[in-house]
Order: sequence, then structure tokens, then C-alpha cells
Amino acid sequence: MIQIAPSILSADFSRLGEEVRAVEAAGADLLHVDVMDGHFVPNLTIGPPVVEALKRCATVPLDVHLMIADPDRYLAEFAEAGSAYLTVHAEACPHLHRTVQAIRERGCRPGVALNPATPLEPIEWVMEDLDLILIMSVNPGFGGQGFIPSVLKKIETLRDLLKKRGAKAVIEVDGGIKVGNAAEVARAGAEILVSGSGVFGTPDYRATIAAMRSEAAKGKEVRKG
Ligand code: DX5
Ligand code: ZN
Repeated sequence: MIQIAPSILSADFSRLGEEVRAVEAAGADLLHVDVMDGHFVPNLTIGPPVVEALKRCATVPLDVHLMIADPDRYLAEFAEAGSAYLTVHAEACPHLHRTVQAIRERGCRPGVALNPATPLEPIEWVMEDLDLILIMSVNPGFGGQGFIPSVLKKIETLRDLLKKRGAKAVIEVDGGIKVGNAAEVARAGAEILVSGSGVFGTPDYRATIAAMRSEAAKGKEVRKG
């Protein structure tokens, strides 16, 4: 089953606890948490104390996406704050293999994210060590941007590569996903769909998540192989 991970970046931060409960009641499988540092990406969001607060009210796993430079410095804090998946950007990690092992040693599921212009090569020799590969379908930094269609081919190529190598990592896709394009993203090979404005920008979270899930299921059905 395709999983839906609403990104709390588009939630009402003045009512974060309520928003978490609302998307969980609406059927969210994971809660996607966008951490930005103003260096790696041109925006600032939240840090470990907020992740820790989310952990206290969330019942679904926290899918923490670190859009930060030098993530090694903060892995321990984000692990202790309650991250289930902890994802770093390949572009921010000169010693990616070491970083991935460090995430696993701290008890989290390691993920690596790739920006839209980054090829698959940086993860080629760590993919067996990963639980998740996050393909960005917008340039990270902001919610509400448009989906970049060339990423679909990259998702397909990654899916084929994982299969060929027998690697178990799940493919997550993040950026510009709405009900209207969930089918094509799932058809390309995504197993987890992140959606911020596509969920929180709609009046009925339950109806939106249900529609997204059913579109994704249709896409997966026609996926080749
Ligand atoms: C972008 C973030 C995304 C973002 C998605 O930098 O990593 O998770 O919140 O938001 P939408 O779905 O609105 O593009
Ligand atoms: Zn994200």
C-alpha cells in the first residue's frame, strides 16, 4: 500500500498539536517534518525541541527530513527527539556512508534525499544500507511549489536500480504532490507520497488523503514490473 505523509510545514503552526491529530484521524501513515537551516536551503523552520513536542502528540512515525548543512552535528539530537526515519541530503554529506551508519547506530531508519538536479550516483554504493530514498520533486526550501515532471523518469530509473540490486529501500517523493498527480508519481515507483499544501491547503483532510490514496493505488496498479 502506498503511504501518505502529510508535511507539517503547511500546517497552522499556532495549532500544531490539533493539526497533527487532525491528519492522523484523516488517515496519515507518517508525519513528514521539514527541518531547514537557512544555509542548505533558503528558509528556516524548526529544530529538535519541536520534533520532540511532535513526538509527544503524534501516534504515527515521524519522518524527519533534514535540509541542513553538516547534518552529522545534529543527528543525535534529532534521534533523541523521536525521529523514526531520519533523512539527510546527499548534497550535504561528504562522507555519506559514515552518516548513514551513524543514523542507524542511533536507532533511526536512515534515509537519503536527492535534489531535483542531483543524479542517482551519490547513493549508488550506499543504497543497500538505506531504508528510504527521498526524491525531491521541487527544489527544497518552501511548501507550495510546482511538481517538476522530469523527476518522474528519475523515480522510474531508481525503481529499476533498486530491483536490480535487490535493495529494500522505499522510494519517497516530496514536493508539489496533490490528488491530481498522485497516480503518476505512484506509477513511476513512489511508495511514500509527501504532501504539504496538497493536504493542509484543503478543507477536508480526510477526503483529500482518501482521494490521494485511491489515485496512488490506481497508479501503482498500472506500474510496469
Ligand atoms: C520542501 C519540503 C517539502 C514541502 C512539501 O522543501 O521538503 O516537504 O513541505 O510541500 P508541498 O507538498 O506543498 O510541495
Ligand atoms: Zn520534505
